Amino acid sequence: MTQAELTLPRRSFGQTMRADVWWAQPLVVFLGLGAFVVYSTWAAFQGRNYFFGPYLSPFYSPEIFGPSPHSWFGPKPGWWPAWLLFSPALLVLWAPGGFRLTCYYYRGAYYKAFWADPPACTVGEPRKSYLGERSFPLIMQNVHRYFLYIALLFLLVLLHDVWRALWFADPITGAVSFGLGVGTLVLAVNVVLLGGYTIGCHSLRHLVGGFLDQFSKSPACYRAYACVGCFNRRHMLWAWMSLFWVAFSDVYVRLCSLGVWHDFRIF
Ligand code: FES
Repeated sequence: MTQAELTLPRRSFGQTMRADVWWAQPLVVFLGLGAFVVYSTWAAFQGRNYFFGPYLSPFYSPEIFGPSPHSWFGPKPGWWPAWLLFSPALLVLWAPGGFRLTCYYYRGAYYKAFWADPPACTVGEPRKSYLGERSFPLIMQNVHRYFLYIALLFLLVLLHDVWRALWFADPITGAVSFGLGVGTLVLAVNVVLLGGYTIGCHSLRHLVGGFLDQFSKSPACYRAYACVGCFNRRHMLWAWMSLFWVAFSDVYVRLCSLGVWHDFRIF
């Protein structure tokens, strides 16, 4: 039997035999994620117009320290260095930000869109070596499961924000009454979409079923595993819908606070 050694020529950057518009998806990801990062960074540094009545922007929740009535421990602490910019969002945004940054779906998406690593499947990339996620710094992506634990706690906090968004204070008497505003619905949809994204997390699937050798030994774990798998199949869709809506929730609260939009009370 004869053998022949073949050396495959290395494609140069962007070279491919693909005839489809392979560049469209990374371009859309680049624009979508880029716009979100720019807006969320701007909103986080504002430090104002992030609450309106019973509504609190999800970028600022939980408000650990801050000037709004939603603050857990009161205003900016006295020990805060005068030279250091203060915004309640900067105390908490690292958690949901880290959760998304280390998400398995987003990693695949931004490696292609921002680093061209590769730009798309079977398209030449701009570098010759491949280190993968098994060496520094990308091995740090393994902290994702810990960000998941924090994200689950944040979901509970956001759910509590929806509950608080059902109680409106009368601007004259101060009396509090139960009601439903468009802002309440905006914040509730935000929790549903973030919940769908979080429940579909790859790491959660490992958490609820990955430790079992046999599913028949634990039908409850199998049901949880299947449920997570159901959300996981649409993880990309949940990721984008929740990303868009969390930014929209901040826009909604911000524009109501600025008096540009008027919140409509349904009852
Ligand atoms: Fe995407 Fe965990 S894999 S949130």
